[in-house]
Amino acid sequence: MIHSPPAFHVEPGGVLRGNLRVPGDKSISHRAIMLGALADGVTHISGFLEGEDSLATLAAFRRMGVDIQGPEAGRVVVNGVGVDGLKAPDGPLYVGNSGTSMRLLAGLLAGAGLEATLTGDASLSVRPMKRVLTPLFAMGARIEPSPEGTAPLHIRPGGALTGIHYDMPVASAQVKSALLLAGLWARGETCVTEPAPTRDHTERMLAGFGYEVRQEPSRRCLRGGGRLRACPVEVPGDISSAAFFMVGAAIAPGSDVTIRHVGLNPTRLGVINILRAMGADIETTETRLVGGEPVGEVRVRYRPLQGIAIPVDQVPLAIDEFPALFIAAACARGITRLSGAAELRVKESDRIQVMADGLAVLGIAAETTPDGLIIEGGEPGGGTVDSHGDHRIAMAFAMAALGAREAITVRDVANVATSFPGFVGLAAGAGLAIAEAS
Ligand code: S3P
Repeated sequence: MIHSPPAFHVEPGGVLRGNLRVPGDKSISHRAIMLGALADGVTHISGFLEGEDSLATLAAFRRMGVDIQGPEAGRVVVNGVGVDGLKAPDGPLYVGNSGTSMRLLAGLLAGAGLEATLTGDASLSVRPMKRVLTPLFAMGARIEPSPEGTAPLHIRPGGALTGIHYDMPVASAQVKSALLLAGLWARGETCVTEPAPTRDHTERMLAGFGYEVRQEPSRRCLRGGGRLRACPVEVPGDISSAAFFMVGAAIAPGSDVTIRHVGLNPTRLGVINILRAMGADIETTETRLVGGEPVGEVRVRYRPLQGIAIPVDQVPLAIDEFPALFIAAACARGITRLSGAAELRVKESDRIQVMADGLAVLGIAAETTPDGLIIEGGEPGGGTVDSHGDHRIAMAFAMAALGAREAITVRDVANVATSFPGFVGLAAGAGLAIAEAS
């Protein structure tokens, strides 16, 4: 029997209501495992994302000899082995769909001087890796990619790396983090300059683990040879997951949704800034600082949206939220223009092309450009769209049904489990008429 990948079937219309909590932040969950493993002492993590991506990172560290208990209801206990305590794994480390695992581990393993092979699924195996390899080579790392410069990555042990000062050509938190992690073992200082602000969870968490990171406006530096001290990590809800509910409430008349305990790090607030510029009614209340990360509540009430030219400075701050934002644009009055977002073409799918194709199925005109999309808002119809195995595309088109005239079927949605386990139940409970089909 041939099994087709699962699909979502979503009836049109409805209203989103309620007070919800979304699963833990993916970026912070990865980093909590990595720094906990490298620390001296025991790190207790709560709110850990039990999604396939962060679980891939957890499994990789187990394979390198780290004793990790859990996850159990978001609780993980990492018995740190210290910066010199990791063991080379006895076979390839498969990290599935997770770009963050692969790029950060490339830096970390090269720095630690361990022999390892990193492999991923079909999507990850075509994503660009030269962006991390080029600066790691400059530090003295020995890594062999495929002939195309992609995964699998074979990391060879060599001598200690040397710190470099690197000017990143692309605004990438993954590259910045890979270099800072490699820099933990490097001789001298490793500095990374970013062309625009990117998420700063690595820097914040390193500081929490007692590792000094010099922070200048667009530069982060650290000196190799230090040690990390275990500390508790409370992972806030993922604003990237909350984004689907924000957009859902913003496009469905009568909606009123509150998402509590969500991370409100300023380097992640692009989605809120952009939706507000489109006219959305969003209230945020910052309640406290959790492990150096601001956390609070986000309330979204329906109000009609207008198309805008998305400010280019918001692009890196909303980089994962464009699939959802394109749905907001599809339901807005007038034209929304995005430029300066070529990075979207090398995410889990080509998010410019795949979203444009799906919007076309729904009868929404979307013109692609090399680095963006021009969307003419209206009232989406219905039909069957293909997510191309991209979790965020699948969830974005599911939410689109709230503003659509007819039912939407989204194909190939299994990868929603990489970042948002329980999405269907949470969305259905809030008012989305969603069902899983095969
Ligand atoms: C991430 C950084 C971003 C983001 C990804 C997670 C991270 O990638 O798209 O989902 O955890 O550092 P880039 O740094 O490549 O933009």
